[in-house]
Amino acid sequence: MSNLSLRGIVRDYGALRVIHGIDLDVSEGEFVVFVGPSGCGKSTLLRIIAGLDRPSGGDVLIDGIRVNDRSAAERGLAMVFQSYALYPHMTVRQNLAFGLENQRMARAEIDRRIADAARMLQIEHLLARKPGQLSGGQRQRVAIGRTVTREPGIFLFDEPLSNLDAELRVQMRVELSTLHKRLKATMIYVTHDQTEAMTMADRIVVLRAGRVEQAGPPLVLYNTPANRFVAGFIGSPRMNFLPAEIALDGQIAVTGLGAIALPGFAAAAGDAVTLGVRPEHFDFCDAGGLPGTVDLVEHMGGESYVYMTLGNGERITVRRPGQTGLRRGTAAKIAIVDAQAHLFRTQDGEVAVGRI
Ligand SMILES: Nc1ncnc2c1ncn2[C@@H]1O[C@H](COP(=O)(O)OP(=O)(O)O)[C@@H](O)[C@H]1O
Ligand SMILES: [Mg+2]
Repeated sequence: MSNLSLRGIVRDYGALRVIHGIDLDVSEGEFVVFVGPSGCGKSTLLRIIAGLDRPSGGDVLIDGIRVNDRSAAERGLAMVFQSYALYPHMTVRQNLAFGLENQRMARAEIDRRIADAARMLQIEHLLARKPGQLSGGQRQRVAIGRTVTREPGIFLFDEPLSNLDAELRVQMRVELSTLHKRLKATMIYVTHDQTEAMTMADRIVVLRAGRVEQAGPPLVLYNTPANRFVAGFIGSPRMNFLPAEIALDGQIAVTGLGAIALPGFAAAAGDAVTLGVRPEHFDFCDAGGLPGTVDLVEHMGGESYVYMTLGNGERITVRRPGQTGLRRGTAAKIAIVDAQAHLFRTQDGEVAVGRI
C-alpha cells in the first residue's frame, strides 16, 4: 500500500493548458474520487499518475519518491479502464495469470493470488470460461480481478462502471467499496457521476477545467460547497439557484419575488448574490412563502419531486418525502426548511459567502 503526492502538476497540449497546477496528497488506504464534467482533465490526471502520460510541469511522488521518470510498470500501480481489455482467446484464469507470468512469478504464488481474487470477486465458477462467455458485469469483475492479483500499491480506476447497466452499476459500487475495505488499499477512482463519488469516496476531489474546485469528504462538500459550481455538481436532483440581492434590513430580496429573513449574515446591502437551496430544503406552506405553479410531479413512491415555476419565472425542484396530492397547474407556496440555504456572491466568482 502506498501514498501519493501531486506537486504542481501541469499538462499542456500545444498551446492549450488542460491541467493547471494541481497539488494533492492521497494517504495510504484512502479512497479518493476525482469527479467533474466530461473534458475537465480527470483521465489526463490519472494517466499522469499511472505513468501513461507525462506532466508538462510538476512532480508525482509515490511513498515520497519522485517517479516522473519511472515507467508505468515500475510504479507499482494497477489501472482499470472503462473498456476492460481482456484477451478474448484466453480463459479467465489465463487472463488473471498473464501479467504475473510475465513477471516470472512462481506458479504457487500465482495460483494463490488468483484464488484470493476470484473468491473476493465471486468469479471462481468462471475461471475456465473465455471473456465471450461472460456478461458485461462479469467481464468487469475479471478486469478488476486482474488488478487485484497484481497487489498494487495504488489502484487506479477510470470510469470502470460506465458501460454497465444501472442496476449492475449500483451492485458494483457496493462491491468496489467492500473490496476497498477488505484490501485496505489506496484507490483513486475517476467518474463524471456524482452519485458514484458520493457513495464510494472517503474524499472527493471536484475538478473543473483542469483545476481543483474543492476537495473533502462527501458530506462536507454536500453541506458546505465552496462555490456555486460544487454546489450544483454535488447532489441530485441538483441545488436550486435563485438570483437575489442583500436588502438593507437583514433580509435577502429574491429577485422578482420578495424578501426572506437573513439573520446573522454580514454583507453590504445591495450585493448581488445567488441563493442556493437544495430540493429537500423547500417545503410547501400556506402563507408567507414564495408563490409558484406546479409544472410536473414525479412520484418515486418513497418520495416525490415537484417541478415548479415561481412567480419570477425561475424553475425549481422540490423534493418531499412520501407521496403528494399536488398536480400540474396547482398554485402553491414554498418556504425554506430550517433556514437551510446557501449564498454565493456574484461579484467574486460565485464563492460561497454564507449559509442562512
Ligand atoms: N491527446 C490530446 N490532445 C489534445 N487535447 C487533449 C488530448 N487528450 C485530452 N485532451 C484534452 O484535454 C482535456 C481533458 O481531457 P480528459 O482528461 O480526457 O478529460 P475527462 O477525462 O475529464 O473527460 C479535454 O479538453 C481534452 O479535449
Ligand atoms: Mg475521461
